[in-house]
Parts: sequence; C-alpha cells; structure tokens
Amino acid sequence: MIEGMRHFLPAPRSVEALPGVFPLTPGFGVAGDLAEPVRRALAALGPVIGDGPVSVRRHGAPESSTLTVRADDIEILAGDAAGAFYAAQTLRQLLPHDAFRAVSPLSAYDVPCVRVADAPALSWRGAHLDVSRHFLPKHDVLRMIDLLAMHKLNRLHLHLADDQGWRVESRAYPRLHEIGSHRAQTITSRKGEPESYDATPHGGFYTLDDLREIAAYARQRAVTVVPEIDVPGHASAILAAYPEFGADPSRRHRVLERWGISPAILAPLPKTIDFLATVFDEVLGALGETPFFHIGGDECVLDAWAASTEITAFQRAQHLATPGDLHAWFLRRLADLLAERGSRAVVWDEAFVSGMLRDDTVVMPWRGTNVARRAIAAGHDVVLTPVFPLYFDYAEAASADEPAALGESITVGDVAAFDVAAERVLGAQFQLWSEYIPDARTLDYKAWPRGCAMAEIAWTGRPAAPDFLGRLEHHLGRLDAAGVNYRPLDGPRPWQRSRPHTPGGLDVAAAMRHLDELTLSADSTRPSM
Ligand code: ACM
Repeated sequence: MIEGMRHFLPAPRSVEALPGVFPLTPGFGVAGDLAEPVRRALAALGPVIGDGPVSVRRHGAPESSTLTVRADDIEILAGDAAGAFYAAQTLRQLLPHDAFRAVSPLSAYDVPCVRVADAPALSWRGAHLDVSRHFLPKHDVLRMIDLLAMHKLNRLHLHLADDQGWRVESRAYPRLHEIGSHRAQTITSRKGEPESYDATPHGGFYTLDDLREIAAYARQRAVTVVPEIDVPGHASAILAAYPEFGADPSRRHRVLERWGISPAILAPLPKTIDFLATVFDEVLGALGETPFFHIGGDECVLDAWAASTEITAFQRAQHLATPGDLHAWFLRRLADLLAERGSRAVVWDEAFVSGMLRDDTVVMPWRGTNVARRAIAAGHDVVLTPVFPLYFDYAEAASADEPAALGESITVGDVAAFDVAAERVLGAQFQLWSEYIPDARTLDYKAWPRGCAMAEIAWTGRPAAPDFLGRLEHHLGRLDAAGVNYRPLDGPRPWQRSRPHTPGGLDVAAAMRHLDELTLSADSTRPSM
C-alpha cells in the first residue's frame, strides 16, 4: 500500500488503492455546492472556490462521504457539509505533515490515487471542557474546536457553570457575570496537605457575542456546541450573585476557591425555574440552533431542601415523597421547558437515578457501566462518559513527572481498548475537568493523544485495531505541525513535567469499581477530592 494511506486516523470504513498520483498544487480550485466546507478544511493550502480539479457533490447519508483521488481529478461525494468537511480531512491526511500548518509551505504534491468510503459509527463524538474551574479564553476554545474538527469529533460540551465560576454574560441577570465569574484566589494545596491558596484572582466569562461566535465557528467545522448550566447543585457562583435563588435565601455565598463538592444548592421552586428559563433563553439566543442543552443534575447535597419549610411544603404540594423526587421533578421541569424551545436535555446519570426524566433526555453515565446499562434498558439515548477511561484530566501515569491530576492512570491504550458498542449508545465523550488544567498548554497535554484514541473508537464504533499505534505515531507528526503541546507516548518532555508533588492520587480503576457498586443500588457522589 502507498505510504500515506496507512496513516489515516481515525480509520476509514474502506480504503481502495488506485493506480497513479494526482499532482495537487496549492491554490487549486474546488467546485460544487458543498465546496465551502472542503475549502475551509484545506484552508492552509489556499484553495479557491471555482472550477475543479476538486469537485464536491451531495450524495449519501449525513456525515458520510466517498473521496476518490484519480490521476486527473479529485471527486468528493458527501451526504452533507459535515461529510464533505471530513472527506477533505481525509484528503489532508494523504499529504505531508506540512499540510497541518496554519499556512502550508507545500508546493505541488503528488497525492496517491485512492478511493475512501467513509461514515462514522457513532453520531456523538464529543469532548467536554470544564471552563468553570479554570476559565479558557475564547481563542483557546476556537483552537480546541480546530483540533476536534481535525479528528472528526463533533460535539463540544461546554461546562459553563459550577461552584468555582459562572462563565457567560447575562443581560437579564448581570450579577451572574459581574459577581459569579471570578474568585479571589485558588487553592494550591493537595488533599491531606495544610490548606494554601495562591492569593491571585481568577476569572473570565464569554459575552453572548463570544458565545455566538464560538457556536458559528464550531458549526463551520461540523462541531455542535452543547452548553451546560449545571443545576441545582454546584451553585456557589450563581448564589454568590443571586442568593435569593438558594435553598436558604438568607445565606451568603462566595464563588468557591477550592475543589470538591459544595452543599450550595438552588431552591427547586417556580421562581428559580423562571430565572433559569430566562438565562437559558439568553444562551439559546446566542448559540442559535441548539439540539442539546445539558442541565447537570450531578452531585447534589439535598440537606438544605429537607431543612427548608418552604421547600418541604412545596414538595408536599407536588405530591412528591422525598427530596430525591423533588430533584427529579425540578430537572424534568427544566427539560420540558427546553423541549418547548426545541432542545433535548442532557443530564449526568444522577438525574436518571432520580427517576423522572423525559423519554428524549440524553443520559451521560459517568459513574460506570452499571448505570449506563440501566439508562439504556430504560430506553434513554446514552453518551458514554465513564471516569475510566474517559476522564482525561486524570494522569496518564502514576509518576511524579506527570502534571498534577486528581487521580491516575488513564492511558492512550486504555482509551483505544474501550468498547463503545452497545444499542442506544448515541456516542462517547472525553471529559476535561479543569481543577488541574489552568491553561491551554496543559489542556493540550491532557487532551492529546488520548483524544486521538477517542476519535478512533467513536468513529469506528469499536476498540482500536492493532495497527492503531503505528498510525498514531505517524499522526503525532501532524500534531507537531499543528503546534499541539501533546504528551509524547513515552512520557512528558522536560518542560512538560510537573512541579514536584507527591504521587499517589486516586487510583481510578479502584474508584470506578467502587462507583459501579454504588450505582447498582442508589445515588452516589464522585470519589472524594
Ligand atoms: C461529574 O463528574 N460530577 C459528572
């Protein structure tokens, strides 16, 4: 087989070598009604819309394509703009690594003739970014979208609200971004050490115009933004701004400066639902078409509900037996109002365990296979998000050289071996919780190359084939050309090593076994931080 063809990542459905080469010259023309996504994917090579030699026609199912490189032309048949964009990514992988620079120095290049017929196995191939624990500036989000698109990943789940920061402008409730978007300092000590803080303010938020731009930029690259406003728990930042929506309105809150689970929780009352409806409308108005909207539901400490006479009376009036039922009712109301606005709700698995979801609500089982199986059996569409092996904030090795992490270890091999095949699995998604991801360089390090393995399993719908490692080694040259601060397969480069810290974080495999046992019976929380 011709050299370039062995190195597609993710692996296409079928590859057939054809005789000859096509001499591609930068500045080449792209013709046809789906020319624009092809021009965009190959922008570094300066293509122009106009006459061939590259022609793009609509044919086939969404996201699918057939790319045919012949000696005298290149033809792309694509089901939609996403399919055309992906076929162009495949074409780019037939070129030298220099095709992955922002401006390619390539002159003419002989592309090996080939026919690649392709389509993804899973429709949700996602990445989750926690921009609350550490804010990620807009240009870094746009760059992450470029990297997702390069790997044919198509969902960007933006975790926009948590105890440690609210990250989006609200014109209706401006204290959300004025007060909720920054904290005075951030914890630096690890679990078990004497508490210490950095005495440095941290914050940031996206304006509604920023959000509009992010969504549009993503859409041009076949990526759908899935916003998350995590409620009713994880609410310290909201309540620092608007304590009147808290379970105890007399209590004052601060944007949290440390990690872990906080008891801060919204009141599950109609006034809170009205408030959230207004905020959701602002987010939806900025993002435009938003097929999925995540409402969280995880890690709620319900004690403050049980302690409130107003909330207990409301619970009784709704004929709900327990605070857990009220948790379910509240999330159901939010999902209903999102449905009225054309969006499907997405929730973490605690909301499924609570037991009152709409049939069309998508469940993200993060606590293991038991709860995933139960959500599937109950008829929900599921996006697999298990801590092991898809929490990429965990370290790749139990080594003092690795940058700080909540636990260890999740390797590229663990991700590549993960089996995503199951009925009603909409897809899979890696998570980048950002307690220990303070900046874009660290984000790169944690995301890649585990994200490459994620792209492989989500695109093909099965564990990676034995040739994956060889393809990945070649692919890392593309990441070098694209300027990605990835983790080399044999460990961090000297400048990527951590400041000295005590190794021995949480053992993720043991923690997952524990969570799996817990979720068999009832609700539970994340392993302690
Ligand atoms: C989660 O890790 N709390 C979804």
